[in-house]
Amino acid sequence: MNTKVWKVDKYVDNLENNPQVVDAANFLRDNEVVALPTETVYGLGGNATSDVAVAKIFAAKGRPSDNPLIIHIAEKKQLSTFVAEVPDKAEVLMEAFWPGPLTIIFKKKEGVLAESATAGLETVAVRMPDHPVALALLKSCGLPIAAPSANSSGKPSPTNAQHVLDDLNGKIAGVIDGGATGIGVESTVIDCTEAIPVILRPGGVTKEQLKAVIGEVRVDAALTDEAARPKAPGMKYQHYAPNAPLFMVSGTTQFLQSLVEEKRTAGLRVGVLTTEEQVDVLEADVVLACGKRAELETVATALYDTLRKFNLEQVDIIFSEVFPNEGVGNAIMNRLQKAAGNKLIAE
Ligand code: TXA
Ligand code: MG
Repeated sequence: MNTKVWKVDKYVDNLENNPQVVDAANFLRDNEVVALPTETVYGLGGNATSDVAVAKIFAAKGRPSDNPLIIHIAEKKQLSTFVAEVPDKAEVLMEAFWPGPLTIIFKKKEGVLAESATAGLETVAVRMPDHPVALALLKSCGLPIAAPSANSSGKPSPTNAQHVLDDLNGKIAGVIDGGATGIGVESTVIDCTEAIPVILRPGGVTKEQLKAVIGEVRVDAALTDEAARPKAPGMKYQHYAPNAPLFMVSGTTQFLQSLVEEKRTAGLRVGVLTTEEQVDVLEADVVLACGKRAELETVATALYDTLRKFNLEQVDIIFSEVFPNEGVGNAIMNRLQKAAGNKLIAE
């Protein structure tokens, strides 16, 4: 398959009628799959009401069929077509964070969406992305769009169109190149089907922000206890992994440097994931700065691109600094832990 690339400037006016966007929307209406930029990561979109389109999403990514997709909408009124019930707290959350990086789980109305999109569950995950190109595409096609991150299953999520092509070129109808995404980690997933909402995946909206608008919020046990079974099926899979084994390292810079020396002496090509503050201090075969530690948002923005860069550098092993587990640091550490398969070396 020849994968089309539509270049779209997200700052131009009237994006909904932009010829490139309209062309991509027509592919979606024909049940083809198209990658699109959002404010978090690139998504691989397909008509959520079509089993044919949804099957193409799962096939292109090599995604396990028991892992449900997030349904993307441009307008709140679309909700009532496939959501059975909107609890008060969900209403408050939508008001505060939509459009934006918050995915809300609702009870599903049966018979509207493709069963495969929700992996046969009685609930459905929905979000309204805060990206002009994504919103224009959603409006232009007029469909609820199922869109997982547009990477091959297991790889780091894509934060630019080239990442999408590196994984899916030839496997999808097209990609809208709207530039690099901003937030860099996926949306927060919150289950609002329970009286006290539960965070299933940390992401772009922090726990602190959620608490500020709805009060008490729980966190799925699987996020802190490796043995617990996660409520979001996708959270059980190894994810975001670079090709070389990745180890998280906690302790001093000297300790990290000593680990590097040991592996280099053993003849390995060693990579280090650090931040701008330390990039000139550490020595290894490949030392990459992933944002600034003093501004954790910049670490989130750069994380997946940095993990992907290590693949281009052909390193044998990667040591990564760890980050404070608070605010957006919750999402960063969650992704880093998955990328590392939880391997941590503490001083
Ligand atoms: O930022 C994002 O959310 C990106 C962009 C493209 O919107 N999308 C994304 O989708 O990250 P994906 O498929 O990579 O992750 C969706 C997560 C998975 O962990 C999945 O198991 C969970 O949401 N999920 C989806 N529907 C669910 C449901 N009904 N109940 C529980 N978890 C659900
Ligand atoms: Mg994903």
